[in-house]
Amino acid sequence: MTTDTVHETTTSAEIGGVGHSVRRMEDERFVQGAGRYVDDIVLPGMLHLALLRSPVPHARIVSIDTAAAAAVEGVVAVLTGRDLEAYNLAWMPTLSGDTQAVLATDKVRFQGQEVAAVIAESPYAAYDALDLIDVEYDMLPPVLTPQQALAEGAPLIRDDKDGQTDNACYTWESGDEEATNGAFEAADVVVRLDTHYPRSHPAPLETCACVADVDPATKHVTVYMTSQAPHAHRTLFAMVTGLPEQNIRIVSPDIGGGFGNKVPIYPGYVVATAASLVIGRPVKWVETRTENLISTGFARDYHMRGELALNSEGKILGLRVDMLSDNGAFFADAQPTKFKAGLFHIVTGSYDYPAAYVVTKGAYTNKAPGGVAYRCSFRVTEASYLIERLVQNAAYELGIDPAEIRMRNFIKPDQFPYESPTGFVYDSGDYPRALQKALEIVGYDDLRAEQAAARAEGRLMGIGIASFTEVVGAGHGKEYDIAGLRMFDSAELRVHPTGKAILKLGVRSQGQGHETTFAQIVANELGIPVGDVKVMEGDTDNTPYGLGTYASRSTPVGGAATAVIARKLREKAIKIAAHLLEASEDDMAWEAGRFFVKGSPTQAVTIQDVALAAYSNLPDGMEPGLEGVHYYDPPNMTYPFGSYVVVVDVDPETGQWTVRRMVAVDDCGVRINPMIVDGQIHGGLAEGYAMSSMQFITFDEDGNCIGSNFMDYLIPTAWETPRFELGATVTPSPHHPIGAKGVGESATVGSPAAYVNAVIDALAHLGVRNIDMPVLPSRVWTALQETEQR
Ligand code: CDP
Repeated sequence: MTTDTVHETTTSAEIGGVGHSVRRMEDERFVQGAGRYVDDIVLPGMLHLALLRSPVPHARIVSIDTAAAAAVEGVVAVLTGRDLEAYNLAWMPTLSGDTQAVLATDKVRFQGQEVAAVIAESPYAAYDALDLIDVEYDMLPPVLTPQQALAEGAPLIRDDKDGQTDNACYTWESGDEEATNGAFEAADVVVRLDTHYPRSHPAPLETCACVADVDPATKHVTVYMTSQAPHAHRTLFAMVTGLPEQNIRIVSPDIGGGFGNKVPIYPGYVVATAASLVIGRPVKWVETRTENLISTGFARDYHMRGELALNSEGKILGLRVDMLSDNGAFFADAQPTKFKAGLFHIVTGSYDYPAAYVVTKGAYTNKAPGGVAYRCSFRVTEASYLIERLVQNAAYELGIDPAEIRMRNFIKPDQFPYESPTGFVYDSGDYPRALQKALEIVGYDDLRAEQAAARAEGRLMGIGIASFTEVVGAGHGKEYDIAGLRMFDSAELRVHPTGKAILKLGVRSQGQGHETTFAQIVANELGIPVGDVKVMEGDTDNTPYGLGTYASRSTPVGGAATAVIARKLREKAIKIAAHLLEASEDDMAWEAGRFFVKGSPTQAVTIQDVALAAYSNLPDGMEPGLEGVHYYDPPNMTYPFGSYVVVVDVDPETGQWTVRRMVAVDDCGVRINPMIVDGQIHGGLAEGYAMSSMQFITFDEDGNCIGSNFMDYLIPTAWETPRFELGATVTPSPHHPIGAKGVGESATVGSPAAYVNAVIDALAHLGVRNIDMPVLPSRVWTALQETEQR
């Protein structure tokens, strides 16, 4: 059931449960500059590691001479891949079941690849010594696009892999080819789009870093690292190094933004740990900005061809998609094992049609590896972009209003749960209502009238729509795993005698506000005031096992685990309350923070009374304490959705476009903290604007990365970012304990198509149907020139 009320709550403001815009508790330390990040960690005797990176994208290593570097004062060791080979650590597995060089031994395969490491008493000595390492390279031709990579006779990039004879990385398909062919045969109209979602980089404010501390006596390894998934990383560390898992502790302290970039394991972590193991002293590695941009997990880089079959009324009959992805030199996308192109097959979008067929192919190229879930669930951003661009073009082709064509094709509210043609089971939604609301807020009919008048005067004004469905909250563990580990998550809750609580989680916030929202879930379920609940994350010795935070999975999975364990403790608390009130358990009633005898509300005890009694005055035979742990494996994903409308004005002289309005109506089910949700949406909308307008990474013909610094790689500031107008609908997820769906990334998934559609809409009457992202003024200008020549 969808409502428009987002502030519905069953707790008082003092308790601050679900629905309250509680101020972010973690901000107290952040606004004081008192966060504790990896680089703040300084250990006695700590050494510093710097990595030598390849200046070229593809070359055979002839020799590496480290003698001069080793002689620099303060240098303790210089390591190459050959040194790591002795420990079987020159290569490591990736999260996508491939292998990746830790330090290159045979060849370098992308500009920025790790070649050698210097460990020194100071970072300055380490960087000085890097300059003295002499590497002789035998240059090989670089392969810079997936099309080049798969062409006949292309140089073989992964000659290290047994049986690899070409640059194909994977092929994966979904849907029903035959049924889809049938849909196309029956179609009145077929709309086609070839488009590229460009390579970009999450560029978190804090770069990747670690401090590896191996105790020489006990061989106990502690690694402080920028990890979005500390438990999974510990297990992989154990597997890679052969060290016993109980002797490895990963601590992920405050993280200055992750956005998917801190999911993969990077060579720097492995080299620092190996160095600490060998030398017997702690070793710190902190990337520079350029290192982060050129070598760590990129995102996107999908070349997509979509075809939509429709009848003359604009009803979609089928979708065919051919996608070619540029995976870089190592297949290191972090995604569920079964799904080689992530959850790209959500590409059927918010629409009801019987047939779809999606073929995806990946290729190795001489670029950095990655393919991470950058502010989105695995590859959903690319999928959402393609379908929303196609639907918009179908509207032009058929002469139907872009809002109307969506309304005609939306999955209807009574069709949920809805099984999509590629096998997703959408949990709940009311898509027409979200779009209707966005149209009302923006004043759609008036804008269309204004647009017609503008066109008559030769002015270019566009209205772009995107109605997205995301898929977040992996797993269920049966279908979804990372490197074989089922995608569940966990919560451990301890209520202490004074009624204060500690909640320990398997997920790891990177700025999303978990210390507040997860405390709110406990407050909601037990009535303990939100400020009395301390949330702990990120230390594998002190939190229960979980798969971590990415792809908006924390709330759907970790949040559910929290609600379930809090409810279990409430069951026990009711028994204790009945004992304290000398009443029968069946006669007990509960309201936030208070247990009372039914029909006699003054005969009551508080959760704090019960907490004390759990340690001091229990019913006979009951186990003392009020604590427990729950591992939650969700029955399904959650499917947040929304509709966005963007209004732009385009300058026909320069191609410059400016956003006049941006209206975003999001539905992420029950909102735990409406203010934090708004913040998440603002971040995503800014990101979507960046993708559509300026943020992308390219390479020159020699394979040099253009985008290795913030002068070349543009991320928007508050100055460029448009003003956002937010609306909301609330459709609870039927299977989530509190009805919440994830939201962290939805706006990045949904909004790029809205911005681009708006620019295309301004030019559509001139026959323009596509401009690739980012929609640079020069590209708009060129498209306009082409229309004049036609
Ligand atoms: O996994 P990640 O934390 O990045 O994403 P999320 O689970 O979608 O949550 C992002 C932030 O929004 C968290 O602080 C959530 O608790 C909060 N949130 C919320 O308050 N209500 C929702 N329905 C969904 C998320």
